[in-house]
Amino acid sequence: MQVLHSLEALHNWRAAHTDVALVPTMGNLHDGHLALVELARQHAAHVVVSIFVNPLQFGPNEDFARYPRSFDADCARLQSAGADAVFAPDAAALFPQPQRYHVEPPALANELCGAFRPGHFRGVATIVLKLLNLVQPRIAVFGRKDYQQLAIIRGLCADLNVPVQIIAGDTVRAADGLALSSRNGFLSADERAEAPRLHQALNEIGQQLVAGQRDFATLEHAAAQTLAKHGWRVDYIAIRRLDLALSDATDTHFIILGAAHLGRTRLIDNLELTVAENL
Ligand code: PAJ
Repeated sequence: MQVLHSLEALHNWRAAHTDVALVPTMGNLHDGHLALVELARQHAAHVVVSIFVNPLQFGPNEDFARYPRSFDADCARLQSAGADAVFAPDAAALFPQPQRYHVEPPALANELCGAFRPGHFRGVATIVLKLLNLVQPRIAVFGRKDYQQLAIIRGLCADLNVPVQIIAGDTVRAADGLALSSRNGFLSADERAEAPRLHQALNEIGQQLVAGQRDFATLEHAAAQTLAKHGWRVDYIAIRRLDLALSDATDTHFIILGAAHLGRTRLIDNLELTVAENL
């Protein structure tokens, strides 16, 4: 596995490898990331994983400075997962001068997570477009865990005619249901024991939808109340269509999304659900 730090090293590696898949990450890799590498391997001959903690997507009061960085361990894990290359530029390589041009995403970027993280998806879309332009992969792989991010990246590539195929990987979870996340390491032992309740709350909404309940606001509110009772600070619990438009009582496909803080750690999760018609 080759470790590429400079744009020149990336360029040379890329010139020697056709049929490339890119898996963009911010490092501190866990089994969810490695599952994306495996998926990428199934779709392309060569896999490059980028590791870059992107300052553009963090708000001024967010966790950019303390975001976990574990480059050596990440490389070891990627080597065993069969990645062909790691692209790990430093900020000076990606931003030789402060970024002047940004991707301006549509209104969806201001909803759900975007309502609580102003500018976040603008920063994500901008760095992803830079990475796609640098690597020029045939395929790029993203996780469904960050469902809104996936939707915005799909929209970005469609609207700006970026010649890449986006592939989505399922969310990898711990045995107790908690979605794996680089931020889980911030949780205290007590918080870690509490953390699966977010996934459980989404599942309970799913059961109510399957049972025919269609009062979305009541379901969302009840789940948020349950989490708050157990010490969470809830950003949102939302039932949406798969394209993230507002749900309608006649819908049969739903995505239930949630974001909430446990102590200093913000967790997100989602659940896709199909229910029978004509309830
Ligand atoms: P990061 O949080 O490191 O996630 C990298 C990729 O791994 C994303 O596509 C994310 O959806 C996926 N992922 C995270 N946890 C997962 C899990 N439990 N199961 C499956 N996939 C999972 O998302 C980012 O980085 C950044 O915003 C990035 C796209 C790299 C732009 O900076």
